[in-house]
Amino acid sequence: MIGAALLELRGLRKDFGGLEAVKDVSFTVREGQIKALIGPNGAGKTTIFNLLTGVLPAQAGRAEFAGTSLLGLAPHRIAALGVGRTFQTTLLFDDMTVLENVMVGHHLRGRMGLLGSALRGSGVRAEERVTREAAMEALARVAVAEVAARPAGELPIGQRRLVEVARALAAQPRLLLMDEPAAGLNMRETEQMGELIRQIRDAGVTVLLVEHDMSLVMGISEEILVLDRGERLAEGPPEAIQKDERVLAAYLGEEAEEC
Ligand SMILES: Nc1ncnc2c1ncn2[C@@H]1O[C@H](COP(=O)(O)OP(=O)(O)OP(=O)(O)O)[C@@H](O)[C@H]1O
Ligand SMILES: [Mg+2]
Repeated sequence: MIGAALLELRGLRKDFGGLEAVKDVSFTVREGQIKALIGPNGAGKTTIFNLLTGVLPAQAGRAEFAGTSLLGLAPHRIAALGVGRTFQTTLLFDDMTVLENVMVGHHLRGRMGLLGSALRGSGVRAEERVTREAAMEALARVAVAEVAARPAGELPIGQRRLVEVARALAAQPRLLLMDEPAAGLNMRETEQMGELIRQIRDAGVTVLLVEHDMSLVMGISEEILVLDRGERLAEGPPEAIQKDERVLAAYLGEEAEEC
């Protein structure tokens, strides 16, 4: 069920020198939703994720997550509040095992979260064990537990994307920001990713999805926000967005530029 506002952006702005990458962007993500953020290359989608996760400072605006202001907080604080993220270019430590990579995700939350305080005083080894178990559970959720002991660098892209999702889940997020989780995946893997995103949402995690694969976006999102050159162009359910003239023009413009 879709509930109250979980994430609210108001008047968010980010310039890079003279380039206005994000111009006065406002939108709301409701608890329990799968919401998509789409738009041509360079529209400002990843920049919005970077602002929300404390990787980049915003020039103006507000971003509230469950009533707490995110802007100005350090990335680990934002993660500890329950905002998880996967990256457009997978950021795995290639020399570490898959399990170790996912354990990093759990540490992010465990230190400060409920689990961290519950374990305080009961020893580092106990914490290590809980972290390992949580990481294995996250790997099982994305169906790649069988590669837990392999170096992450050996995995094909399909599995790397799943491990990224597991690492984010291991931090027990309430909101998951996914930046092109299907990039580089074949059609079957993309369908499986869609199914996984649905399962994640059904398990109680709200999802904000950046994705270029339109069949995936249209198939799983309840609501879509379209950005173009840093500005909100349209917002609505998939059926309305697919027919929106302004959206079609923005994407056609992009194709024309590429020719
Ligand atoms: N750290 C940065 N420094 C300077 N310019 C940047 C930086 N990050 C992004 N930009 C620029 O800001 C604009 C928005 O980039 P962004 O990565 O947010 O787009 P995007 O919508 O995620 O695109 P894509 O679909 O290609 O991933 C682009 O013009 C990009 O070149
Ligand atoms: Mg991007």
